[in-house]
Amino acid sequence: MLLKKRKKPEPQQENHAAAALAASPVAHDIPHPDLISVEEAKAMDLDQMTELFMNHLNPGQYHFMKLLGFHKVKIEKAEGVWYTDQNGRKILDFFGGFGSLAFGHNHPRILAARKKFQDENRHEIAMAFLSQYAAALAHNLAEIAPGDLDMVFLGSSGSEAMEAAIKVAERAQGPKRAKVLYAQNAFHGKTKGVLSITDSTLYQSEFKLVEDVTKVPFGDLDAIRHALEGDPQIGIVCLETIQGGGGIIEAPAEFWQGLRALCDEKDVLWVADEVQCGTGRSGRFFAFEHYGVVPDVTALAKSLGGGKCAMAAMIARKPIYMKAYGKPNTALIHGPATFGGIGEACITAIEGLNVMYDDQLMKNAAEVGGHLKSELQRLMAKYPKLIKDVRGRGFMLGLEFQNFSKTMPLAVRPALAVLDDKLKGSLPGFIGSALLRDHNVLVAFTEYNRNVVRLQPPLITTRENVDTFITALDTVLAGGVTKIVSNFVKSQWS
Ligand SMILES: Cc1ncc(COP(=O)(O)O)c(C=O)c1O
Repeated sequence: MLLKKRKKPEPQQENHAAAALAASPVAHDIPHPDLISVEEAKAMDLDQMTELFMNHLNPGQYHFMKLLGFHKVKIEKAEGVWYTDQNGRKILDFFGGFGSLAFGHNHPRILAARKKFQDENRHEIAMAFLSQYAAALAHNLAEIAPGDLDMVFLGSSGSEAMEAAIKVAERAQGPKRAKVLYAQNAFHGKTKGVLSITDSTLYQSEFKLVEDVTKVPFGDLDAIRHALEGDPQIGIVCLETIQGGGGIIEAPAEFWQGLRALCDEKDVLWVADEVQCGTGRSGRFFAFEHYGVVPDVTALAKSLGGGKCAMAAMIARKPIYMKAYGKPNTALIHGPATFGGIGEACITAIEGLNVMYDDQLMKNAAEVGGHLKSELQRLMAKYPKLIKDVRGRGFMLGLEFQNFSKTMPLAVRPALAVLDDKLKGSLPGFIGSALLRDHNVLVAFTEYNRNVVRLQPPLITTRENVDTFITALDTVLAGGVTKIVSNFVKSQWS
């Protein structure tokens, strides 16, 4: 395959050509620009991919991939829990695309449903007509969701579903009660509305955000009560049921039950962000089901797309939805987006949901995820100088490493402690890089607490896969910090 040096026409030439074309009374063929074909894209080598990534995608991000050694991998194939790279090496996926691969890669039933849909020339965009696919998916989600969480808005990203969730709640509460309470270390997306309740100075940067928001510590019911009693404009409480980006953080059942009672008492709507922890990942379809409570609005994305497409959903209690958009003159205020409810994405999600129950994937997440958690706890007891905590449930687990200074001999700890903040993430980074380089296992980190490795493998992961991962991690940790660091340094030169 050739990726020729691409040279754009000089502006001068371009202007002349454009002027000549515009002046001509005859329609001309438009010249085919120097485009890469699908087959050429598949056949690119790492040098070519790097060049295009640096020139057209995100040069800054490449820096991090390079640091971890991830830039040397070109994925050629993905099946189940495995990636296969350009050298035929199989990589065990314990990262799972930030939790978007509940069914693993290219689940055969999902592939078959999509292929049949294509072979039958089914339609995708149906804004003018009723869509049987969108209607069926909405029915399935309402059937799965408890209580009267019955009304569904379909979109294509978690941010979009969360925007829809906040908007439906705001419409129902009215402008005088539109203030949103959110949690420290929350991640709800990067679009401008929900960025206002995503607790990151990095992501918020200097953007002009929605100002009607207030923040409390996650899981602190007294702080929420205090905030609601002090400010009657707060009409919405928005929380991830399990914080993902914050480092896989849970709150106890009493918190959620207290929150439900408090919201009822104060006429406040509770929005549960289940974009990451939902769709079966925690061992129940919605993580809030563990606590026997039902929110007013919730949102799903990630694995809802079956690992094959972009699909997201906001689900609201019927009275809330009807109040917000239930009449002809309000129906289109937040009506369907162009790609909301697109045909093949809907049938992918429908097939995925059926697979989830047919194959008992949530049971597997609870059982095999439990095995993974207890194995991690065993490693924590074996390596207390390295591992600080193991958290989460099902296949949404966090493995927190100690600050760098804690891994060093007692005498040098105080001197090194001043560097702990700067070095946050370096130890898990070295370990993640060793896992991929020497043991063919992929893991990733949480956004805010970079000392936490997030383990979100597909829900089809077996005990054998877990044991492979644990053996790899044990071998890396057994080397101790000195070996982990020196191997990392060596890898930077190879
Ligand atoms: C809890 C949560 N909410 C919202 C989002 C935003 O989803 P997306 O990246 O699809 O926009 C994410 C993404 O990681 C998430 O974890």
